[in-house]
Amino acid sequence: MFLFTGICGYNRTRMAKPQAPISARLLRWYAAHARDLPWRRTRDPYRVWVSEIMLQQTQVETVIPYYRRWLKRFPTARALAAAPLSDALAMWEGLGYYSRARNLHRAAQRVVEEFGGRVPREAASLRALPGVGRYTAGAIASIAFGANAAVLDGNIKRVLARVFNLADDVKSAAGEKKLWALAESILPSGRAGEHNQAMMDLGATICRPQTPLCDSCPLMTLCEARRLGLQNKRPVTRRKPATPHYDVTAAIIRHHGRVLIAQRPAHKMLGGLWEFPGGKHEGGESLPDCLKREIWEELRMKIEVGEQRLTLKHAYTHFRITLHVFEARWVGGKPKAVDVAAFKWVRPSQLQRYAMGKTDRAIAESLL
Ligand code: ADE
Repeated sequence: MFLFTGICGYNRTRMAKPQAPISARLLRWYAAHARDLPWRRTRDPYRVWVSEIMLQQTQVETVIPYYRRWLKRFPTARALAAAPLSDALAMWEGLGYYSRARNLHRAAQRVVEEFGGRVPREAASLRALPGVGRYTAGAIASIAFGANAAVLDGNIKRVLARVFNLADDVKSAAGEKKLWALAESILPSGRAGEHNQAMMDLGATICRPQTPLCDSCPLMTLCEARRLGLQNKRPVTRRKPATPHYDVTAAIIRHHGRVLIAQRPAHKMLGGLWEFPGGKHEGGESLPDCLKREIWEELRMKIEVGEQRLTLKHAYTHFRITLHVFEARWVGGKPKAVDVAAFKWVRPSQLQRYAMGKTDRAIAESLL
């Protein structure tokens, strides 16, 4: 029996109560209010898996068209495993966090090699797949296979932190441990898939970060934070450090009507995607000097830097950049893939064939 020790505000009388009312109310609410989402019309574990990977960092509305296109192009784990990684990256373009696509592709190959193309049902086998952590394994196991497995994401953390009035930082190790235990403690045996999705929907639509709609919440009378008027103070999170900002340069190096693009090394951020080469500005150098240095380090090419063509701003998870894009001309040195995976001279009209991140796609489009 799980004991709710150390959870602030959760008093002993309440602790002794069984948790069934929470899931019973949730399931009733879900029966009436579940969002109609394409991955909820199937229990095909491959489809559930694809949806959960796409949803890891991305909003439902953004995911829907990607999910549909992906399944048209890769309807099974076998189809995905047989496709080149570049096709998977191209289908993922615009969704961000590209390691998800690389991991999914590699994991599909493992599913084919080790499990004959069938997604495994055991949590340990699921978690051994690249890109599948505790959350995703729990989601696949419960939604596709009906296992009694819990899930915990940002939305569910918020719901639990409020219902149980958890005073711990929900991103701390101690907070997470308590939240996983709470998530497990309220699982209804045999209906964990629906329950988990009900928690997701409650977090997304009712128990919202700001101004939760408590009056419409099926858990209102069970919610400890609400009882104490603390719903806006939960969940507790430590203050985020300010995201650092970098100036980055990129070159449009032209030669006989073509431009040079480079493929990012597989192990780096945005690995496998193509870009206009360049790199991070270092103190004490001018932006054109930064570009000359970067192009030499990555490609052993000498360039002459021309006009600045674009300035783009972009935010990644842990930092923001201003990208300064310059015209450039190749003036010496035979290009060599020293610190890039590959390079190509491409006509601007052919750039569409190469998977790119958002900023590089914007540069490519500016050339048309
Ligand atoms: N977020 C993560 N998984 C989800 C799911 N299955 N349905 C809705 N939102 C989600």
